[in-house]
Amino acid sequence: MSGPIAVFGGTGFLGSMLVHELVDAGRPVRIAARKPSLPEWAEPGDKLELASVDIRDETSVVNALSGVAGVVNAVSLYVESRGKRFADIHVEAAGRLARLAHGAGIERLVHISGIGVDVRSRSAYVRARAEGELAVIAEFSKAVILRPSVMFGPDDAFLSALSRLTRLPVIPLFGRGETRLQPVHVLDVARAILRLMGNAPPERRLFELGGPDILRYRDIVKLIAAYRERERPLVPIPFPLWHLMALLASPLPNPPLTRDQVIMMAQENVANEGVGTLQDLDILPRSLRDNLPMCLGPDRD
Ligand SMILES: NC(=O)c1ccc[n+]([C@@H]2O[C@H](COP(=O)([O-])OP(=O)(O)OC[C@H]3O[C@@H](n4cnc5c(N)ncnc54)[C@H](OP(=O)(O)O)[C@@H]3O)[C@@H](O)[C@H]2O)c1
Repeated sequence: MSGPIAVFGGTGFLGSMLVHELVDAGRPVRIAARKPSLPEWAEPGDKLELASVDIRDETSVVNALSGVAGVVNAVSLYVESRGKRFADIHVEAAGRLARLAHGAGIERLVHISGIGVDVRSRSAYVRARAEGELAVIAEFSKAVILRPSVMFGPDDAFLSALSRLTRLPVIPLFGRGETRLQPVHVLDVARAILRLMGNAPPERRLFELGGPDILRYRDIVKLIAAYRERERPLVPIPFPLWHLMALLASPLPNPPLTRDQVIMMAQENVANEGVGTLQDLDILPRSLRDNLPMCLGPDRD
């Protein structure tokens, strides 16, 4: 494949790790985002281009796709606000990107979604992710859909938020904290995409990527509290109370908690059988436990 790989969302948590892996592997990359910038590690001679693009704007997407060999959609929207709806980004824009990529004769498209997508979910976010997958496949039948579990890594949102919680005198749990998750290292997900952008066309079209350990939410909290040497009582909080808190927080410009997050915290986030895995891509996933020091560091938060 000649031409750069366009990484839509190439400045984000996953996207920036992917850009690094692609450049490291000698692949030319186009970082496509609303405010793209060169990574700090970039050196003169690295095959890196920037494209200013709003995935909702067809003209800017067409320009960002010009001459590329492959496309990755790692654009996210986790919280809706005025003028920014899940359906716009995760369904309409994702489908449009797939249509334009197919129309431009681009061979490879990897669309990042998430484990647990469901068109019947009570969560507007989860529904939009499911409808987005369908929209992408309708436009680009050979697109690869990649569903990671919750991702961790250096400077992530997940572990840092839990680490901040351990500063409280008691740690509130979602329900009894029994929901099972399969946290996956962001580097493993980036490497999976790198493999999927290799010369051989991928054999599978759907992957669910989880780490080596399936952990209950309460066990992840305990791991982090022990690492921070701040062992605290864990206090179960019923889900209806979390829903009430999310409702009260909803008028805030950046709510610390949303209804969608509460719904997702009640749902298992574990890779299903019968879909592609990291192992199918010859990637041995990194464990959360072993990587806590690299991800949290002693004085990070
Ligand atoms: N993080 C996780 O634990 C996790 C778990 C499962 C699945 N995922 C999925 O993985 C993907 C990447 O997530 P992430 O956590 O890496 O996201 P992120 O850190 O929030 O990054 C989002 C990226 O999208 C770009 N972006 C946002 N709106 C855009 C728009 N309208 N047009 C063009 N670019 C836009 C942002 O750059 P600008 O703001 O400059 O445009 C940024 O580069 C998402 O699909 C997410 O749902 C994430």
